[in-house]
Amino acid sequence: MEIDIRAVKRLRESAGARGAIAPMIEALAGSAADLATTRVVCDWIQYKANFRDTVMVRPVLSADGSASVDGHELALDLRRAARPETDVAAAVAAALSDAVHADGGGPAAAAPGDGAPRRVWLEPWVPGSGSCVWRFNALYWQALAAWEKSTGKGFEQALPGGESDARNSAAARETILDLFKNWDELASRRALPGELYVIELGVGNGGQARTWLDEFVELDRRHGRDYYRRLHYLMGDYSAHVLDRATQEVAHHGEHVSGLVLEATRLSGSVGFLAGKAFLVYISNVYDNLPSDEVAVIRGRMYLVQARSYLDEAAADSVAARFGLNRAEIAQLTERLLRIGPELLAESQPDKFPDTGQAVLFWQAVWDALRQAERYVPLEGLDTYRITPTVTGEILRPLLAAGGDVRMHVSNGALSSFADTLPLLHPFGRLVCHDLFTTSPRDYRTGFFGPGKYDGSVVNWVNGPLLQLLASRRGFGVRFSPFTQRPSSNVKTLAAQVRD
Ligand SMILES: C[S@@+](CC[C@H](N)C(=O)[O-])C[C@H]1O[C@@H](n2cnc3c(N)ncnc32)[C@H](O)[C@@H]1O
Repeated sequence: MEIDIRAVKRLRESAGARGAIAPMIEALAGSAADLATTRVVCDWIQYKANFRDTVMVRPVLSADGSASVDGHELALDLRRAARPETDVAAAVAAALSDAVHADGGGPAAAAPGDGAPRRVWLEPWVPGSGSCVWRFNALYWQALAAWEKSTGKGFEQALPGGESDARNSAAARETILDLFKNWDELASRRALPGELYVIELGVGNGGQARTWLDEFVELDRRHGRDYYRRLHYLMGDYSAHVLDRATQEVAHHGEHVSGLVLEATRLSGSVGFLAGKAFLVYISNVYDNLPSDEVAVIRGRMYLVQARSYLDEAAADSVAARFGLNRAEIAQLTERLLRIGPELLAESQPDKFPDTGQAVLFWQAVWDALRQAERYVPLEGLDTYRITPTVTGEILRPLLAAGGDVRMHVSNGALSSFADTLPLLHPFGRLVCHDLFTTSPRDYRTGFFGPGKYDGSVVNWVNGPLLQLLASRRGFGVRFSPFTQRPSSNVKTLAAQVRD
């Protein structure tokens, strides 16, 4: 049996975490699991709201296509296991017993990974990027006003630190002064275009756009070249509601700003007209909010992680009782909610949800209780796995070959968006992105990088080395640096531009 403790720093720091290891081993030894084919992974899940139970068991499916199981991975969240009230031995014993029962030819309806019976499933087994949690995420941004009305809190308050770094004036000044330098140089060669384009993707409440544009006006006045007159600031977001809000925030910049409803992972159709013209593409806290798969190497073999969202028995009973439903209705109403949103759900089912507020409470209750079961499915060949329509899994090879067993994000959405953004850049242009990035494949061996829940949205760190690989194949260089204005934060700045 292998035991992989990724959270080594936490293990050193937390007596509670160390105290969880012995009961876990006792429970494993006393279980019917085949210990020769069982792995144990101990993480420290820093997100208080997340998709995992304190203990979960993931089957590793065999490569012969028979849906039989080659072994199991027991995953323990040391943060919750360290709490005195957690009975680690009982939780491990129960999870193993459910898994061995379901994966070893238990009830006919069970499939490998289905675990405890009487779960309410919200979807079939899918790669992580195809999970309904991303539909929840999109709904959050589309119906943000209804969610915020219900919680009484703005989305920024759910971010660590309670405020987005996107509104940092010093960071804005730095990018503007850089632009001025490039524009002055181009102007001196009579090569500066008449229109100066800047585009921001994923604009939130417009705070970044406002900070940036207000700073621009002030710095431009001092610089004296009247660049503001030629400036076009495009704000792109997939939520019309968010865009409305952001547009109001920058209304005093009038004609200089336009809002575009767009899908950040498919840009060529919507903003293809900008090809080669954007001097700055600015993105903050969006890549970590885009769908991602995960891949893993286990004993030298490659796997795709499949996920399946569910509510456990107790949570499903509690949601059903609270909203006067039977258990079978929960999945059906959730599907409807994700399709039409809380307002239309209330309008179409007034017997169940007398007003939008009640439908929002149902949404929040399901989201709060939502967990994901996981299983490992063999990847036949990296070239047969499509990360985006134009990038195959082959690009992962150098990262996965870095040695030993590992599990990492594929960041499919971020990679698509990034690949579609690079062609928009003017040869002197730059993509600047503040976000949560891993910067070495080794990071994945020592920490947990999502997914977690921020209020109604999903947060997932982005595989930085993967973006770097893609950029270098397309003639761009990528640099990661600490977010200078708040070096203690996990946020890093990615800067990409044409390689010299
Ligand atoms: C976490 S907020 C960040 C807002 C702002 N940039 C900040 O840093 O405060 C994520 C933003 O990205 C937008 N977004 C998320 N996924 C998107 C997608 N696939 N296409 C376009 N916009 C998306 C959301 O609507 C939201 O405005």
